[in-house]
Amino acid sequence: MPISQPPLHGRAAECALLDETIAAVAPGSCRVLVLRGEAGAGKTALLDHLAARAEKFCRIGVSGVESDMELAYAGLQQLCAPLLGHLDALPAPQREALEVAFGLGSGDTPDRFLVGLAVLSLFAAAAAEQPLLAVVDDAQWLDQVSLQTLSFVARRLLAEPVALVFGVRDHPELLVGLPELAVRGLSDADARELLDSVMFAGLDPRVRDRVIAETRGLPLAILEVPRSVSAAELSAGFWIAGKRSSPAAVEQTYVRRIRSLPADTQRLLLLAAAEPLGDAGLFVRAAEQLDVPVSALAPAEADGLIEFGSRMRFSHPLIRSAAYRAGDLLDRREIHRALAGATDAQLDPDRKAWHAAQAADGPDDDVAAELERCAVRATGADTHR
Ligand SMILES: Nc1ncnc2c1ncn2[C@@H]1O[C@H](COP(=O)(O)OP(=O)(O)OP(=O)(O)O)[C@@H](O)[C@H]1O
Ligand SMILES: [Mg+2]
Repeated sequence: MPISQPPLHGRAAECALLDETIAAVAPGSCRVLVLRGEAGAGKTALLDHLAARAEKFCRIGVSGVESDMELAYAGLQQLCAPLLGHLDALPAPQREALEVAFGLGSGDTPDRFLVGLAVLSLFAAAAAEQPLLAVVDDAQWLDQVSLQTLSFVARRLLAEPVALVFGVRDHPELLVGLPELAVRGLSDADARELLDSVMFAGLDPRVRDRVIAETRGLPLAILEVPRSVSAAELSAGFWIAGKRSSPAAVEQTYVRRIRSLPADTQRLLLLAAAEPLGDAGLFVRAAEQLDVPVSALAPAEADGLIEFGSRMRFSHPLIRSAAYRAGDLLDRREIHRALAGATDAQLDPDRKAWHAAQAADGPDDDVAAELERCAVRATGADTHR
């Protein structure tokens, strides 16, 4: 973890809260905090500040990586690796559960509750020697069971001198009910100051105000300005919001748009996204299995998201990955079940089997990630900064 960073603009209140968090950790007093905010809001920068303030702590950390999502316990293992010297301090059942979870021992799939308790004990054993700071960044990409375990731990930490702090993008369903710090865009004045600090030439104040408004104070978007627009373009006012927005941000906008549509429309969009060929015949058969009239797609067509013809065509590749992501696990399963049912066993056995497997085991985010990769290939862009 970095020891020193450039100063953060406009984050005095947030930094004060983080400083207070660290100061409050002592025997008998733990702290849990979730930093929540959209991409580029500055969560990682604040976590770096926190880590730098915790010189006296044993600092451990992990950042979720999108492609690891379904490697069970991968995130937890990475986080706990520096603490494994304390394994012997754990009661045998907990130690064994953790060893199996981390692939250090063999045995039946460990009981999740026991793994949670084991992590609590491990934290307590480490914290008995030195206060512990555990930082979990990009929690939305941690594998599911690691995140569940850590959320269990966060709810049960009691008297150990431990700070457990998460950074998570706007996923309201994750890490619900824990103490939270919302990381929002900078105030106009702070955003202006940050923009001025990275611009090589003075900006026409009117252009500058518009840039500030359109970047919504997001540090990443502000820092991108000089990279994406030349000084001449800027001074002429050629600033287009979102011109260089990251595909992830664009996709998120589509997810929001899709979620505002009627439920049946969303199900049909998910169906169209999960069906790899754009085959309208298959789409219609699967819609019948779902008992959703194809006419329910009309609001999405009217909104310009998709065209319904002999080939289903999303208007932008990112809309397809957004449509897939907009559904939850159960929705996706149901859709894959319908597609398995509607796919011809003679003509397309592999695809039928694939849909059936997704319906049975639950599709993982690899599918979403793969759709996103396709979208990125199609747009020639990089998905995440
Ligand atoms: N207050 C700030 N002042 C100056 N620069 C900042 C500030 N906050 C963040 N930055 C810079 O903005 C960029 C984006 O910030 P950061 O990576 O922390 O965002 P994030 O919320 O973690 O995004 P993501 O969800 O994509 O991980 C980084 O280059 C960071 O150094
Ligand atoms: Mg980050």
